[in-house]
Amino acid sequence: MYEFWVWFSYVLASVTFIVGLKFLSHPETARRGNLIAAAGMTLAILVTIFLYRNAEGQPLGNRGLIFVAIALGTAIGWIAAKRVKMTAMPQMVSLFNGMGGACAAVISLMEYPHHSFEGGRWTLAAVIVAGLLIGGTSFSGSMIAFGKLNGNIGDVRFRGQMILNLLLLAALLSLGIYLTVQSQPNMPLFIVMAGLTLLYGVLFVVPIGGADMPVVISLLNSFTGVAAACGGFIYNNQVMLTGGILVGSAGTILTILMCNAMNRSLINVLVGHFGSTTAADGAGSDKGAIKEISIADAAILLSYSRKVMVVPGYGLAVAQAQHAIHELEKLLEEKGVEVSYAIHPVAGRMPGHMNVLLAEADVPYSKLLEMEEANNEFPKADAVIVVGANDVVNPAAKHDPSSPIYGMPILDVSQAKNVIVIKRSMSTGYAGIENALFYDPKTRMLFGDAKATLQKLISEVAAN
Ligand code: TAP
Repeated sequence: MYEFWVWFSYVLASVTFIVGLKFLSHPETARRGNLIAAAGMTLAILVTIFLYRNAEGQPLGNRGLIFVAIALGTAIGWIAAKRVKMTAMPQMVSLFNGMGGACAAVISLMEYPHHSFEGGRWTLAAVIVAGLLIGGTSFSGSMIAFGKLNGNIGDVRFRGQMILNLLLLAALLSLGIYLTVQSQPNMPLFIVMAGLTLLYGVLFVVPIGGADMPVVISLLNSFTGVAAACGGFIYNNQVMLTGGILVGSAGTILTILMCNAMNRSLINVLVGHFGSTTAADGAGSDKGAIKEISIADAAILLSYSRKVMVVPGYGLAVAQAQHAIHELEKLLEEKGVEVSYAIHPVAGRMPGHMNVLLAEADVPYSKLLEMEEANNEFPKADAVIVVGANDVVNPAAKHDPSSPIYGMPILDVSQAKNVIVIKRSMSTGYAGIENALFYDPKTRMLFGDAKATLQKLISEVAAN
C-alpha cells in the first residue's frame, strides 16, 4: 500500500513543480508559484523519509542525521535569503545552484562503488558518470561564478586556455566512456575523474567576463537540473527525475532567451569574452560636450510633460531607489503626467531583476513596457529619465560595429524629445564601454546617487 502513496505523492509533487513553473512566468503569480512548488517538494521529502522503501523493503536509515542536516540547511538558507540584498541575488542563485550540483556529484560518488555493471547495465554506469561530470562542473563553476559576481575573483585568461579546456573536456569524456564500459567499478579512476571535473568547472568559468556571468549562471543552472535528473534515474525516483528535467529545460530556455536578448550565440558568450573590453569607445572621437541639468529644471521639465518614461537599470537597484521612483511616478501622475517604465530584458544583473525590484515598490505591472513596446512609445514621450542604466541604452549597440555590444537590442531613448540621465559620474556600465547617449544634444546629465537625487526631485516636483 505504501508503494501507492509514495507513487501518488511523487506524481502530486511533480504536478506542483509544473504548476509552480507556470505561475512563475508572471510576476503577479510568481510568489504563489514558488510556494506551491515548495509545498510539493516538502511533500516529496517527507514521503521519502517516512514512507519510501527500497527494493529490499527497507525504509530510509539515519533519520536523525537527515533531520539535523535539514534543520541546518533550512536555517542557513533562510538567514541567507532574508539577508541578501537585491543586487546580490545573482551570487546567491549561483551559490544555491552550486550546492545542487555538489549534491548530484556526491550521489554519483556514493553510489558508484555499490553497483556492478555486468550484463548490459552500462546505462546505469553512464548515468552515474554523467551525474558526476555535470554536477561536479556545475558545483565548481558556480563557486567561481559566485566569487566573480561578488567581486572576489577577477577574469583569469592565459594563452592556450581554450585549447587546454578542450583537451581537458576530451580527457573527461574519454575517461567517462572508459568507466561506462567497465563491468565493475574502478573507484580510484572515478576519484581522478571527480578531481578533473572540478578543475574543468573552474577553468570553464574563470575566463568569462563581466556582462556574461548571468548567462553562465543560467547555463550552470541547467547543468544542475540534468545532474539531478541523473540522480532520479539512479534511484528510480520519479519526482527527482521530473524536478531535474524541469530545472534542466527551464535553465536551457532561459539561457537561450538571454542570448537572444543580447543578440549573441551561446558559443560567442562562452568563448567571446564579452564584457572584458575596456578600450572600445562607443562615443567615438568627437564625443562633444555633456550638458548637465539642475534639479529645479529637471522638476519643471517633468512636471510640464504630458508623457514621461522611466528606464531603470542596475544603478537603481544598487541605490535601492525603487520606492523613490514610484513616489515620483505617483506625484507626476497626480499632476496629469502619464508615466510608464521601459524594461530591457537584460537590465540589471538577472532576468526579471527590474520587474521584481519595481514590484517590491508596488509599481503596477500595467505600467511596465517591454523593450519592443517601449521603443514604439519613446517618440511620443516628452521626457525619458534613465535611472542608473547604461549599457541597455547605449546607441553603440546600433551604430558601432566595433563595439563589443554591437547587435544587442537597446532601449532607443534618444527618440524622445528630452533625456535626463541620473547616475553618479561618467563611469561606464557593466560592459566597460563609453556611452554616446550622454553626449547626445537631447541628453542632460543629473549627477548623483539615484535615490538621493530622486528624493530631491520629488521635493522639487511637489513644490512646483
Ligand atoms: P549597467 O550598464 O551596468 O550600468 C549601470 C550604471 O548605473 C553605471 O553606469 C553606474 O554609473 C550607475 N550606478 C551605479 N550605482 C549607482 C547609484 N547608486 N546611483 C546612480 N547610478 C548608479 O546597467 P544596465 O544598463 O542595467 O545594464 C545591465 C548590464 O548587465 C548590461 O551590460 C547587460 O548586458 C548585462 N547583463 C545583464 C543580464 C541580465 S539577465 N540581466 C544578462 C547578461 C548581461 P555611475 O558609476 O557613474 O553611477
